[in-house]
Amino acid sequence: MRPSLRQAVVPALMLVSVSQAAVLCNSPESFLPVSYALSAAPVETGLTTCSPEQNYSLSTTTPVLTLDYGVDVAGFPYIDVVSGTGQIEFKYTEDFDGLNQPYGDGPWSFVINLANSFRTETFNVTGPGRIQSALLQGGQRWETLTLLTNDTIVLSDPGFAPTVEVCPLETLPGSFSASTQNYTDIWGLGARGVQLACFDKESQPQTWNITTDGAYIPGQQPANSPLGYGLSDYTLEFMTKIVRGGTGWRVLSPSIRDGPYLILTSDYPSDSTFVNVDTTLLPANTLVVGNGPNIINQTLLPTSANQYYPVSTTIKEETWYNITTVTGASGFDVYINGTLSATVPLVNTGSWGFGPFNDQIAYVKDVQVTSSNGTIIYQNDMKSEHTLAEYGVHTNTLAVCVDGAKRDRAIWVGDFVHTARVLAATTNRVEFIQGVIDTAFSWQLPAGDDGSGLVATQASLGEDTEYKEDYYTANYGITDYQMFFLLVVGDYYTLTNDLAFLTPYWTQVQALVSQMETYLDPNSGLFGNSYDDYYFTAPVTNATSPTALFAYALRKLVPLAEAVGDTASATSYNSTAQTISDTINNLLWNPATGTYSVGLSDVDDYSITAIAFTILAGIMNTTQIESSLATALPNMFYMAGYKDYYSTANSLTTQLSPNTQGFLFEALLISLKNDYSNTTSTAALSAISNLLDVYWPQMLSPSRYYSGATWEYMFPDGSPGIETFTSLAHPWGSAPTYLLTQYVLGVGPKTAGYGEWSFEPIPALIRGGLDGLTWAKGVVPTPSGVVQASWEVDQSTGQLNITAQGPVNSTGIITSSVLTGAWSVNDVPTTLNGSYTVTGGEQVVLLGTI
Ligand SMILES: *[C@@H]1O[C@H](CO)[C@@H](O)[C@H](O)[C@H]1NC(C)=O
Ligand SMILES: *[C@@H]1O[C@H](CO)[C@@H](O)[C@H](O)[C@H]1NC(C)=O
Ligand SMILES: *[C@@H]1O[C@H](CO)[C@@H](O)[C@H](O)[C@H]1NC(C)=O
Ligand SMILES: *[C@@H]1O[C@H](CO)[C@@H](O)[C@H](O)[C@H]1NC(C)=O
Ligand SMILES: *[C@@H]1O[C@H](CO)[C@@H](O)[C@H](O)[C@H]1NC(C)=O
Ligand SMILES: *[C@@H]1O[C@H](CO)[C@@H](O)[C@H](O)[C@H]1NC(C)=O
Ligand SMILES: *[C@@H]1O[C@H](CO)[C@@H](O)[C@H](O)[C@H]1NC(C)=O
Ligand SMILES: *[C@@H]1O[C@H](CO)[C@@H](O)[C@H](O)[C@H]1NC(C)=O
Ligand SMILES: *[C@@H]1O[C@H](CO)[C@@H](O)[C@H](O)[C@H]1NC(C)=O
Ligand SMILES: *[C@@H]1O[C@H](CO)[C@@H](O)[C@H](O)[C@H]1NC(C)=O
Ligand SMILES: *[C@@H]1O[C@H](CO)[C@@H](O)[C@H](O)[C@H]1NC(C)=O
Ligand SMILES: *[C@@H]1O[C@H](CO)[C@@H](O)[C@H](O)[C@H]1NC(C)=O
Repeated sequence: MRPSLRQAVVPALMLVSVSQAAVLCNSPESFLPVSYALSAAPVETGLTTCSPEQNYSLSTTTPVLTLDYGVDVAGFPYIDVVSGTGQIEFKYTEDFDGLNQPYGDGPWSFVINLANSFRTETFNVTGPGRIQSALLQGGQRWETLTLLTNDTIVLSDPGFAPTVEVCPLETLPGSFSASTQNYTDIWGLGARGVQLACFDKESQPQTWNITTDGAYIPGQQPANSPLGYGLSDYTLEFMTKIVRGGTGWRVLSPSIRDGPYLILTSDYPSDSTFVNVDTTLLPANTLVVGNGPNIINQTLLPTSANQYYPVSTTIKEETWYNITTVTGASGFDVYINGTLSATVPLVNTGSWGFGPFNDQIAYVKDVQVTSSNGTIIYQNDMKSEHTLAEYGVHTNTLAVCVDGAKRDRAIWVGDFVHTARVLAATTNRVEFIQGVIDTAFSWQLPAGDDGSGLVATQASLGEDTEYKEDYYTANYGITDYQMFFLLVVGDYYTLTNDLAFLTPYWTQVQALVSQMETYLDPNSGLFGNSYDDYYFTAPVTNATSPTALFAYALRKLVPLAEAVGDTASATSYNSTAQTISDTINNLLWNPATGTYSVGLSDVDDYSITAIAFTILAGIMNTTQIESSLATALPNMFYMAGYKDYYSTANSLTTQLSPNTQGFLFEALLISLKNDYSNTTSTAALSAISNLLDVYWPQMLSPSRYYSGATWEYMFPDGSPGIETFTSLAHPWGSAPTYLLTQYVLGVGPKTAGYGEWSFEPIPALIRGGLDGLTWAKGVVPTPSGVVQASWEVDQSTGQLNITAQGPVNSTGIITSSVLTGAWSVNDVPTTLNGSYTVTGGEQVVLLGTI
């Protein structure tokens, strides 16, 4: 049973070790649409406001009910039937355009995601009562209900039974607002996004059910057993009973999204067959064989043309069949109840899995795999609950965040850097950070393994660490995601000082650092060949960006090493960071471009992450920062934002990443705060304005794409950057949320856990550096209570008003070069010398003139 959200919150809070500030909020008991239209086709604009008593009558003249939830929501779709019978197709999408596509904005074929991997679902309406899907939908703003039959059906009370908490922004422990409304609203995009992408423990239920007839599997992406990876030349046998439409399985599948995918369709009896079955894609009594992520194409996940093998007998529903798939050197043979039904010339290596197509349902039991020499190598009657763990479809066992609400819904640790800091600045649900750290370390490969020390970079929600070695390398890919994870560990320490949680993991941190060091090339000293030779932040090895990222991560870990009493590691991490910093400067600085080369083999190109991580890691000196920001960076701006690389071609489909620009943003803010030179500060301000006034506001535009959260990618025209496939609730795009708090307002931890906090309003901002920004205020959650702070300047008189108050057991230091000379502190004339110390919960008001 799915615990109600109210029940789910309480145990989650009991696990919190550092956060007293987490509060129960008024997350709705249901997500309800705000407006609707009844029409012949989906309607985007001019919708009518919903009212609680509203009835919606679907008929042959108005077969389509369009529902707009205003912002992204997540949960189990439901509706009440008032009267009528017939068939209705539900469709879900974030971007309105998905309503015009046959499968909405889906399907999701990349991972098993503990949700419906399809975005359409058909129901047989048999009379009054509630219809509710058994599978959740992870993120959507738009929904249609389309009447498929010549009937009249009256409906009421549509909505989603929540699987996430989304609290009104004003009830969150953290807040930020500014004189520029868009900055306030951009902050809110992150605060909402982390709530859509972070889940309480056990809030995302299993997607298969175990019964005395074996596994009951509703239509979804096939889930593989991890026990068959690397195998070939085997025979897979199982019994299956089609409940509706067909049954589906994989053999020789190297991963969830690869290899042969077989679907056997039924004879489509009229009493169970929906009228919208696509009989071109899936003819009756046919074995349909795809090869790739699915049997239909999806953006970024193309799949080969399908092959069709009509079956000579009638395939009945509610009848058991014995399916035997014999794989060999030239392909595989499929036997149905002992009759050879297809010989398929597809060869590959990998495991078996099960999953019928959209709207189909089937049982699977008595699975057996035999090696070509006759040895039985696998048996599972599919009648024990442990099957859910094996096939990676059990409920989420920890409170975790995924990359995006609707997709991939994978625990991508590399995406999590921004998400973790957004959580701390907004909901303060730090147990989600703990959950992701717990998850990553529970997947860490043990000593002696190939890749020992590595953590899973992309564990799927329902998968079990019992099989972690079987999931290597599939779940561990992208070398620099390991370094992003080390950043998360360092950030969690900085934000919480939670040594009770971190100390037990210290040896695991050391094991990961040691493994990463083995990928430093002995000749160059830069990151070279690795376990997967793949770096997210550079297209080549021997590159600036991943190497600088490692230095940055090590520098963050030095204070943690000291705090856990490991001075040897503190010294060695510090010296490794210094050595590789020197190496980057010696080998990769390019005076011709005025910044670092992407890599040794890519000298003329440069990138925003190379600039960001070399600034954040303290690798650049001030003249290098000046030329990088003033000379190189402007060449990477294209229409709405910064491209990842200077060499990236300019086109209407150039992807502009809010994730990478988030790292750049902090580097710009630090450079502005440090005011290295007038040229640097001017360049930083101009770039900051590009991000805050041009790039991120696109996500605020009241368009068909608006989701209330930040996006995964953007095209230069301001639309989502992977078309309808783009995740529009992707917290990796939410860096401005914590950066507005930490730099535009100016409040951050001075010592780990905010024992000492700092309030450092940036002089260039106070002096009017960003048009329209005259005040900022906010509340910042800390482990011992909140810091409340504000600054406000009257630009005509130059009068500056600064207020601050911290937790009782804390000290705060307000620092700014404008705080010099004659000031009033709580109405008392006081001479200041650049700073003022706030102790023990006192409330201070500083008044002065700049
Ligand atoms: C599994 O069974 C439970 C209990 O009957 C039910 O609530 C849930 O919807 C079922 N799940 C699926 C995917 O059918
Ligand atoms: C509905 O009625 C029309 C006109 O009689 C017919 O063409 C169509 O096939 C019917 N649709 C269904 C699903 O029965
Ligand atoms: C829908 O339900 C009705 C009433 O139980 C039944 O007669 C009909 O066969 C069902 N149709 C489908 C497609 O399941
Ligand atoms: C997917 O698209 C490719 C390229 O257009 C095409 O060759 C292939 O047949 C398509 N696959 C399916 C299943 O339609
Ligand atoms: C297929 O074989 C199974 C036993 O292996 C049997 O129970 C079932 O009735 C057979 N199905 C048909 C349609 O013959
Ligand atoms: C399934 O069929 C194969 C031959 O195709 C046969 O060897 C096996 O015994 C059958 N299994 C069951 C459970 O009937
Ligand atoms: C048969 O194959 C299995 C799995 O490939 C292997 O472990 C086993 O040693 C083989 N047995 C014989 C007798 O060759
Ligand atoms: C990295 O650079 C060094 C020194 O030039 C070279 O020996 C090594 O082969 C390079 N590594 C890769 C993977 O290209
Ligand atoms: C780190 O190294 C620098 C010199 O490279 C040194 O000045 C500093 O004291 C070192 N810090 C620690 C914590 O070892
Ligand atoms: C900064 O680095 C550049 C490039 O390596 C170097 O030419 C310059 O002398 C350095 N400046 C300072 C002040 O160290
Ligand atoms: C740069 O210098 C000019 C002239 O002194 C000044 O007006 C401007 O505010 C400075 N810009 C920054 C960002 O400090
Ligand atoms: C705020 O964002 C909206 C939506 O993109 C945009 O239309 C508007 O121009 C922005 N306002 C300012 C002052 O930049």
